Amino acid sequence: MAARVLLTDRVAPRAAEVLAEMGVDAEQRDDLDRAALLDIIGGYDGLVVRSSTRVDAELLGAAHRLRIVGRAGIGVDNIDLQASRARDVAVCNTPGGNANAVAELAVGMMLSLVRHIPLATVSMHEGEWRKKELKGRELRGQTLGVVGLGAVGRRVSELGRAMGMTVLASDPFISTDDAAKVGAILTPLDQLVRNANVLTVHVPLVPATRNLVDRAVLASLPAGALVLNLARGGIVDEDALLEAIDSGRVAGAAIDVWPDEPPPKDHPLRTHPRVLATPHIAASTHEAQVAVAVQAAEQVGAFLVRGERRHIVNGV
Ligand code: MLT
Repeated sequence: MAARVLLTDRVAPRAAEVLAEMGVDAEQRDDLDRAALLDIIGGYDGLVVRSSTRVDAELLGAAHRLRIVGRAGIGVDNIDLQASRARDVAVCNTPGGNANAVAELAVGMMLSLVRHIPLATVSMHEGEWRKKELKGRELRGQTLGVVGLGAVGRRVSELGRAMGMTVLASDPFISTDDAAKVGAILTPLDQLVRNANVLTVHVPLVPATRNLVDRAVLASLPAGALVLNLARGGIVDEDALLEAIDSGRVAGAAIDVWPDEPPPKDHPLRTHPRVLATPHIAASTHEAQVAVAVQAAEQVGAFLVRGERRHIVNGV
């Protein structure tokens, strides 16, 4: 009997085709509410999700046949890794598939901040001509501090170098030689922070990275630095960031990710004039969504059909 895989969260349709080509019975259901999902999940050997479906102990408890969950994306915060391990359900993600999309948005954020593009646009819409006030800065010659040199951090480093920035990177799992391959100079975090005109984080949210960018880090940045968080809400301490922006120490920030999504409408960083706030769109490009969906489908299919294990993140 063919293995059965359920795809939710509007995973790109190509994923179902890839699974079908592997002889897997794939069913895309973007219409399911939680109760309906709990009702039918017991009939599937595999599940492919993006970030909306909560794969928690309750869901896993109802998923009697489930052997693998594929996350079309990197962050696995919507999946209970311990509960899945306890039930012998493998979890895989798709590192790299959306790295370029995230990195390009990081560059867009940097350029928007230093050249005031959003404000310039809004002022034009409002009939103003604020040429004199909108003098910007250039990125060339500035120092970019990249925290985390995984697929996204590496691509951000390459793009930073291409714009003539000095790129410092901190990552305990990467060698100096490996960092150099993407033009980054491996640097201890405290030293990186003291020198970064632009600080960008590209690490997962785990206990060790929660509030990694805290008051002390923000106070160590050069005056007028910019801070980017396109990784996960909670890595940058929001209260501390707000204080640092209001005090003028940090000139501006770009925040794409929030501890609670969506953040409240009156969230002070969401509405702050010196913050570019976006609704978790870093990986939302057509190309990236197809890439992560296809990668997740290939990995889930290979696991179910041939027992192949790629990018398993929960030790099963
Ligand atoms: C990821 O974790 O891959 C990105 O943040 C995008 C997403 O959440 O889907």
